[in-house]
Amino acid sequence: MKKLVVLSGSGISAESGIRTFRDMGGLWEEFDVMEVASPRAWEMNRSLVLRFYNERRKALASVHPNAAHTGLAALEKEFDVQIITQNVDDLHERAGSSKILHLHGELKKARCTVNEEEVCDIEGWELKEGDLSSGGYQLRPHIVWFGEPVTAIEEAIPLVNRADILLVIGTSLNVYPAAGLINYKRHDVPVYVIDPGEPQGIRSMKVTFINKKATEGIVDFIRMVKTNDLS
Ligand code: OAD
Repeated sequence: MKKLVVLSGSGISAESGIRTFRDMGGLWEEFDVMEVASPRAWEMNRSLVLRFYNERRKALASVHPNAAHTGLAALEKEFDVQIITQNVDDLHERAGSSKILHLHGELKKARCTVNEEEVCDIEGWELKEGDLSSGGYQLRPHIVWFGEPVTAIEEAIPLVNRADILLVIGTSLNVYPAAGLINYKRHDVPVYVIDPGEPQGIRSMKVTFINKKATEGIVDFIRMVKTNDLS
């Protein structure tokens, strides 16, 4: 089976009702990223940070995977599909994809502020001050904040390097090191991009650009990879 590596971003979940970050009406238009998603924000205004992620987690409970998530899960019949996502939602999991690497953490998990390896599930949607790890320390959202290392990148690089096909879907490719992952593909590997906008990072790269929303673009993509006999 050929290896299909998918680099997904918030755009894939947009049609499920989750807000993107940099589009018009995106989250970073309403919130200052450094005030809600940075270690300094956690130091200065913990309750605001907790509230920001609690709201995101609460919103997640009322949305569902869309045809792009389920289309990628169904492709596991023909391809060895590896999802590498910048998203902190769990819509790839709920759609049934089996290999998912989260680069920026997971909304439904918390981790210990002292023992960083201690990660646990959050029951319900609320994480509060006073919620403690097994060692008795405050729990924080299991999210990679701005200025923090993206440790999963080490695992992601060889996955991209082994890809036979690369699909980039719903990401503006603004945030590094995630955006730099496309440079680790082997040179003859076909790259497909599904996005109704124009991700800045692909301008200099030869790609098959499917200039549509995720749920429509996935249909074209599936037809292309099947008729081009890439499986
Ligand atoms: P952005 O908001 O930067 O980009 C969203 C992309 O999705 C844009 O290229 C849009 O054109 C595209 N898009 C919008 N609607 C779409 C749809 N229906 N179908 C397909 N694509 C659509 O979001 P990301 O690239 O995901 O990090 O942002 C990367 C990181 O920046 C996030 O993981 C987050 C953020 O700050 C952290 O919080 C650490």
